[in-house]
Amino acid sequence: MKCRRCQKQAVVALPSHNTAFCADCYLLFFKRQVEKAIKDHKLLTQNDKVVVAISGGKDSLALTWQLANLGYDVTGLHIDLAIPDSSEKAREITTNFCKKFNIKLKILEIKNEGLAIPEVKKRIRRPVCSVCGQIKRYYFNKFALDHGFTVLATGHNLNDEVARLLSNTLRWDTAYLSDQGPLLPAENGFMRKVKPLYRLTEFETANLCYLVGIEYGFTPCPYSSGASFTYYKQLLDELEFNQPGRKLQFYEGFLKRGQKAFKLLEQKQGQELNPCPECGYPTSGELCGVCRIKKMMGVMK
Ligand code: AMP
Ligand code: FES
Ligand code: ZN
Repeated sequence: MKCRRCQKQAVVALPSHNTAFCADCYLLFFKRQVEKAIKDHKLLTQNDKVVVAISGGKDSLALTWQLANLGYDVTGLHIDLAIPDSSEKAREITTNFCKKFNIKLKILEIKNEGLAIPEVKKRIRRPVCSVCGQIKRYYFNKFALDHGFTVLATGHNLNDEVARLLSNTLRWDTAYLSDQGPLLPAENGFMRKVKPLYRLTEFETANLCYLVGIEYGFTPCPYSSGASFTYYKQLLDELEFNQPGRKLQFYEGFLKRGQKAFKLLEQKQGQELNPCPECGYPTSGELCGVCRIKKMMGVMK
């Protein structure tokens, strides 16, 4: 198999794009996909101070590498969740990556907030991963606002986004459908949030890590019964196998043509948000979700 661009020996085949690339041309392909996402949705400018949430997995590491490589001012933020074994590994991988590629890194220890995840798990009845997600989003936002960043980037990829779209669609969750996408503008005390990898698959980010020499963590969260949306991801992989390119078409079609309708609908029904009286985080209830968890944990009176 030959590289579609330069005719050298190809190292990776991409049926969804009906193409194959050698290593150098693959890096160019990856860069262009990220640039296209940024340009089409006005995700970032070179004046932005970007904080990238780095979990230690392939997606957020590939994203950080690519944004730094494109000349953006990036700082990594890793949240140490205090989960025995898995958090230590994730923290080490993230730290080593940032050292190797000379990237600024901040580590936020969740146990210092009184919210070590194993302790939270003991006290709640909901699945801990969903509460953990809520806590992480809260601290991503707070950290970015408190430290003068202008935008927060996460490593969500095409597989994540299409699985989420299918799940939202199956439930016709119009509120989620109205703001699912690569850009959430800053408003009501929320930082601007972007997902510059939304055009790239899990396979493609893993491949970038391999070619660039980025070591990444494999271990899923030990409290999770599987990766999120596992079943939808399997269904979509089967669809993609039979109809290469379908995932990206489905998602881009939603962004270009489907989403407007849900936005209009939600403008009419929008819920009003007010600052949480304890911490200022936007909430539709009395206290925000994380302050409620803190109260229950006895961290806050
Ligand atoms: P996940 O929900 O685990 O698929 O993660 C989605 C994105 O959230 C990742 O690509 C990261 O950008 C970010 N993220 C997840 N966990 C952490 C963490 N412990 N610290 C920093 N960022 C994280
Ligand atoms: Fe954090 Fe499962 S506990 S993702
Ligand atoms: Zn609060």
